[in-house]
Amino acid sequence: MNICVVGLQWGDEGKGKVVDILAENSDIVVRYSGGSNAGHTVVIDDSKFALHLLPSGAVRPDVTCVITNAVVVDPEVLLNELETIAKKGITLNGRLFISENAHVVLDYHKMEDQLREESLGINKIGTTIRGIGPCYADKAGRSHAIRMGDLRNLRQLKEKLQTIVSYKNKVFTAVYNAAPVSADDIFDKCKSYADKFLPFVIDTTEFLHKSIANGKSILFEGAQGSLLDLDHGTFPYVTSSNSSSLGMSAGCGVPAKYVDKFIGVAKAYTTRVGAGPFPTEQDNDIGQYIRERGHEYGTTTGRPRRCGWFDAVAAIYSIKIGAIDEIALMHLDTLASLKEVKICTRYSILDTRYSTSIEHQKSSIKHRETTWFPSNIEILSNVEPVYETLPGWDEDITDVKDFRKLPKNARNYISRIEKLTGIPVTIIGVGPKRSQTIFRKKSIS
Ligand code: GDP
Ligand code: IMO
Ligand code: MG
Repeated sequence: MNICVVGLQWGDEGKGKVVDILAENSDIVVRYSGGSNAGHTVVIDDSKFALHLLPSGAVRPDVTCVITNAVVVDPEVLLNELETIAKKGITLNGRLFISENAHVVLDYHKMEDQLREESLGINKIGTTIRGIGPCYADKAGRSHAIRMGDLRNLRQLKEKLQTIVSYKNKVFTAVYNAAPVSADDIFDKCKSYADKFLPFVIDTTEFLHKSIANGKSILFEGAQGSLLDLDHGTFPYVTSSNSSSLGMSAGCGVPAKYVDKFIGVAKAYTTRVGAGPFPTEQDNDIGQYIRERGHEYGTTTGRPRRCGWFDAVAAIYSIKIGAIDEIALMHLDTLASLKEVKICTRYSILDTRYSTSIEHQKSSIKHRETTWFPSNIEILSNVEPVYETLPGWDEDITDVKDFRKLPKNARNYISRIEKLTGIPVTIIGVGPKRSQTIFRKKSIS
């Protein structure tokens, strides 16, 4: 069985926890997109792991971990991560592979990310400053790109770095009035990366296809969330890769037809870090309550996450573009003790200029409701969410193991999400630990 796990919202849905659980029955876990902007948390008993580049299967000693072509690899972060988990007794010797085609994030990418964000002032994207956008830009531009495979030929790499760094320094000094970086220093770091990583650098596409032919079971781990997808998300407030499940095939060279099931991970509410429209945001006591109860602070940057109600319009969009089969609904426990809980079921559009519908644009009736998520931010910023209100539940559910033991109102909340989205909720998170998870085989209630 091959499974792909993908975020249905703006990231941080709890993918790390879901991947860690499913990895128990997987031979291989694959990271196929994004870079160290991701922060995937795995909690095992009292140990907490925050993984940025390693697939979340890494904490299971028998799982092979693969980082494929479309991931942008920051070797410094990866080294730190390997050292951190080694201190907890976990090594990846012989079970980590990195694509020779994966692009390398270097110091000048992180610097460019930071300088550009600073220069944008209030219009900044709110990136993680991990050099993601600049590295993907160099990939698309080709001539300034460095890939993991380039570490094999250090003489050629040295020459390439001289050319690239001399160009970058012109931009840093002239455009941003910043200090230049040293090509020699970056080359020295690359030399040490070559020593450490070359034994793991392979053609991961060949490896995955051979593994499929040998009947191995593969778990594909999405990073970020579908609404942060470069082409299908809320551009420009997105990341620089295809973070919906559409990015899986291109990201690792395995067509979606080899995937038996796409699991979409969503929180029982919605969060977002960084700028950009967020129709169901609760910039009030409710949002604050959710943030504190759910510990909604970024895994990578520590920034407070913006919090709001569950947005079924947004989730349905991610489900449609991602051909999602089932939902893993996390953080149900966080909503406990609220008198009532809300689900956004449609958007109200008050002006024909802000409609994606041609009929509406031509119509004289300005007000219209839609259940289609407009990824265009000008439109999305001008919608009013329409809510359904459901009664909340008081009980602490963090020890519940069986769906039938959940309070009736919590069950009703899940049933409503299933009805609206048209797909079953098969995994329910009631706490951060592996054990705080309810599994359901049942189809839509
Ligand atoms: P990811 O990026 O999608 O892997 O998610 P993050 O790890 O960035 O953020 C999810 C946070 O929620 C982490 O701190 C998890 O430990 C935590 N978490 C995951 N599932 C649950 C859940 O069901 N309940 C609670 N209370 N916490 C959860
Ligand atoms: P995981 O995998 C939440 C957001 C950033 C910013 C935008 C662009 O943990 O769910 P970038 O650094 O990628 O150029 O930033 O995307 N972002 C995330 N938000 N979870 C993530 O990853 C994210 N990765 C990027 O906050 O708004
Ligand atoms: Mg995260």
